[in-house]
Order: sequence, then structure tokens, then C-alpha cells
Amino acid sequence: MTANIQAGIRPQIRDLETQQILQVSRLALDDPSVIPLWYGESDVTTPDFIKAAADDALAAGHTFYTHKHGIPELREALGRYTAGLYGVDMAMERITVTSSGMTGIMMLMQMLIDAGDNAVLVGPVWPNAQATVEIMGGEPRNAPLRFGNEGWTFDLEAVTAQCDERTRVIFVNSPGNPTGWMMRREEQQALLDHCREKGIWIVADEVYARIVYDRPVAPSFLEIADPDDPVIVINSFSKAWAMTGWRLGWLTHPERVAPFIGNLIEYNTSGTATFLQHAAVTALRDGEPFVESMVEHCRRGRAVIGDCLSALPRVRYRSPDAAFYAFFAVDGMDNSLDFAKRLVHEAKVGLAPGTAFGPEGEGWLRLCFARAPETLEEAVDRLTPLLK
Ligand SMILES: Cc1ncc(COP(=O)(O)O)c(C=O)c1O
Repeated sequence: MTANIQAGIRPQIRDLETQQILQVSRLALDDPSVIPLWYGESDVTTPDFIKAAADDALAAGHTFYTHKHGIPELREALGRYTAGLYGVDMAMERITVTSSGMTGIMMLMQMLIDAGDNAVLVGPVWPNAQATVEIMGGEPRNAPLRFGNEGWTFDLEAVTAQCDERTRVIFVNSPGNPTGWMMRREEQQALLDHCREKGIWIVADEVYARIVYDRPVAPSFLEIADPDDPVIVINSFSKAWAMTGWRLGWLTHPERVAPFIGNLIEYNTSGTATFLQHAAVTALRDGEPFVESMVEHCRRGRAVIGDCLSALPRVRYRSPDAAFYAFFAVDGMDNSLDFAKRLVHEAKVGLAPGTAFGPEGEGWLRLCFARAPETLEEAVDRLTPLLK
């Protein structure tokens, strides 16, 4: 007799789709002949000075439970980092360390979304945020960016048209994954005005804030929001410090919600690995030259990919201002998930299908260019027969 594997599983969990990027990557995750450009990470390992700081912290015995909101040294360091970057005061009471940006998003939806509520997501966007809304029994609503000659642009009306009395959250990810879109200051202000008036939370995912090409840092909601505004910013050590495998992020939030977030930390993770947090203090203190080198690495990758993709007649692509993704449309490709699977088998290159990022991503593919130029050239050589 076969057991009903769905028995007793909440419908919200039972019905979750396996993330489409994983549907592609699991075809060949351990196959070294495939060039893996499907995930959002570089080929650079965490720099030695950060790894050494983790070793030292372990050797010093930082192996115990610790403060739920993060060790005070790291929260203070993040406060100073934020103040330095944006020229704002940032008390450590407004900062909570999380075991990754992803966990931060999940806990925020646990805090804000009740069954029957909805969250408006500005997309195309990284799929995991939508899934967190679904897990809570909420309804994710899509507010599309516009694509035109200027690339991707924000459409406030598309957002407000999706809002009603059950809207609790507007999730906005700038610089954006997969588009590389960067929200302008006036657009942030207009959205903040709307959310202040309606009492809706802005959950601003700014994990790519440092991966920008023509300015030191992307505009942040932290520059315009008052400390008590309904704004929570998600950040992460993953991208700019090459620490994807460490699972380390942080939230910046109004002080009044700190007790609720503290409880959610207790009941989700009970805190973030102590020795990793000590290493993160070092990453912030000594990491600026590394962050700059990471941006240069991505800039080189962006140039290689831009040259190659613009030579392909079926491909429509505009070089992004930020983040490390080429998001491009392919004429005649009507099922990006199937096509991405085919590319794994036939070209030995792993890309993310556009539909992973919402329905408007059909016809598009995402390629992560945070890689060595030789790797990217080889990838494009392999892709060309299938894309030209
Ligand atoms: C937009 C966005 N937010 C959050 C994350 C998660 O980052 P972390 O590695 O800290 O979970 C990612 C990772 O790809 C991302 O692209």
C-alpha cells in the first residue's frame, strides 16, 4: 500500500511549487561539465581575512548561544556601516542579525501576513519572497515593472492598483534580481508617501545595494524613512562580501518592532552562529577594498556578456545598472523553463528561466555574470548555437 504523502500537510505547503531555478539546477548540480550561471553568486570564495576571523572566533571559544538580535559588536558595527553609507543615524536597537537574508524575509512575512492578507510584489522578482507570502496563507499580487528603451522602470500606479484594505506589505527589491533595475529616490519617496498614508509596510530588499556600477551605493529607503516609518530593509553578507554559504544577513527596522522580531528569531533559529557574527564584524571593518574588487569583477563580467549577447540577433538585452545578472529576452522561445533545461543538456550551461521570476518573465532568461571572463566567454560560445 502506498502512503498518501500529502496526508496532514497544510495546503499552503503542499501546493508550493519547487523553485524553478532549482528545477533546472538539480538536473546537473554536481556535473562539473556544466557552467553554473543559474544562482546569484560569484565564483569568488570568501576572502581569507574573513575566514581567518571565523577561525579565530572558533579558537576563542565563541561557540555558545548568544543574543537573539545578534551580538552587540556586530549590531553596532552594522549601525556604523549604515550611518557611513547613507549619512543617517542608526542605533543598534534598530538592527537585527538574521541567519541569511532569506530567513529575514520569512520572519517578516510571519510577522506581517495573516491568512487572507495580501502582499504586493514589484516584479519580475526573485521568487522566494512570493513563496513566503504563500506559506503564511497570504495572497501574493504582482505589480509589474515596465520594460522599454530605458530598461526596466517603476510604475507606481501598477502598485497602487493592486492595493486594497487587506494589503499589508509592498515588497520591493532594488537593485533588482533578476532585472538589475534600480529604484530612483523620487520613486522611493512616492511609494513611502503611499504606504504612510495607507499604513502598509514597505519590505525593501536591498541585498544588492553595493553591486552598482556608476555610483557608490544604490538609493536606499533608509535615506528617506523616519525611524518609525513602516519600512524594514533586508540586507545580507552574501553578495558584496562573497559569503553566500555563511547564511548571514540583517534587518533594519523601527525600534518598536524589535521585540516581535526577537520572538520570531527565538522560535525560528534561536539566533545566528556566534563565530560567524564575529567574522562579520571583521568583514565590515576591513572589507571595503574587497567590496570594490567584487564590483570590478562583476563589471568585467557585465562587459563580456554585453558584447556577446548584443551580437546575437534573437536576443534582446540591456546592460543593467546594478546587481550581477543579465536578464535577456529570446525571440521565439515560448517556454523558458523547458528551454533552460535544454540548455543544461545541450549547451552544458546553467541559466535561470524567466518564469521563475513571475509570469511576465516568460520569454526571458537570467544569467549571473559574477564570474571570470574566461568562464563567461566559454559559456556564451556554448550558448550561441542555441540562441542565434
Ligand atoms: C533579491 C534577493 N534577496 C535575498 C536573497 C537572499 O540572500 P541570502 O543569501 O542572504 O539568503 C537573494 C539571493 O539570491 C536575492 O537575490
